Amino acid sequence: MREFTAEYLRRTREGMWADSRAALEPLSLESRSRILDVGCGTGELSAVLAADSPGEVVGCDVDATLLESARTRDGVSTVAGNALELPFADDAFDLVVCQALLINLPDPAAALAEFARVSSDLVAAIEPDNGAVDVDSSVDREERLERRARRAYLEGVRTDVTLGGGAREAFESAGLDVHETRRYDHVRRVEPPYSEGAVLDARRKATGSGLADDRETMLAGALTESEYDDLRGSWREMGRDVIDQMASREYRREESVPFFVTTGSVPDTRGAVPESEGSVPNPTSPVSECER
Ligand SMILES: C[S@@+](CC[C@H](N)C(=O)[O-])C[C@H]1O[C@@H](n2cnc3c(N)ncnc32)[C@H](O)[C@@H]1O
Repeated sequence: MREFTAEYLRRTREGMWADSRAALEPLSLESRSRILDVGCGTGELSAVLAADSPGEVVGCDVDATLLESARTRDGVSTVAGNALELPFADDAFDLVVCQALLINLPDPAAALAEFARVSSDLVAAIEPDNGAVDVDSSVDREERLERRARRAYLEGVRTDVTLGGGAREAFESAGLDVHETRRYDHVRRVEPPYSEGAVLDARRKATGSGLADDRETMLAGALTESEYDDLRGSWREMGRDVIDQMASREYRREESVPFFVTTGSVPDTRGAVPESEGSVPNPTSPVSECER
């Protein structure tokens, strides 16, 4: 399982959902009473859900360290747990949602089936297409090198990090009735005055430490050790250009990551006893009450 630091999640989610929440409209947050955010990490999405819903928001993650940050968010409580075996009863929530979780799982449909078990109504997944990230930078070679590093990473990674708008199929395999998919472009701009996160990013480029985090994944694909060393050398030079441009306040960068919000409902027929197995349907029997 790929591990994420709290610092990485804060940096990459900066400003997310602050510009527009139109893609979240199908979640009907204003009418939810109990929401589960699976793979919540530091609670970046949980905080948005809590702000826009009168209901209770629970964040769940396998990483106990990240959950400590999520717990500090207003209106968010946390529970440690695995997306494939959620520690909740059937129908415990009326919305179960995740953000950038499915792209890290070998079998997204298995997780969605578990989401459907604990949801009485809606399931939603907000997943990026990391193959369609767009970068525009005042440092000429930054765009080209990022493309090269991204290609090497995509070739080596074992899960579908480009899932994005293609989650529909996994929803259907999990038995969910798909409603729609909406797109939200998360745009991050770096410009003067530079934030602490932007300065840290530049340092990670100049030292090559950011790239080194993905070394194993890149080498698991087509990239050879010497190609990796070559890429890292160019990467560090590019990082030094970024720092120089920052010193003269010339550096500008814009990155756009497309996220796709797919929603689907738990079918009405779930829990119904087939007529051949049961007696004559009785509208007051517990079986009828379970039907949605
Ligand atoms: C890319 S991060 C996304 C975090 C958060 N949803 C966000 O968008 O900022 C993926 C998260 O999924 C969690 N995760 C990975 N596999 C998991 C699993 N099987 N069950 C629960 N959480 C998992 C990781 O610990 C991490 O916090």
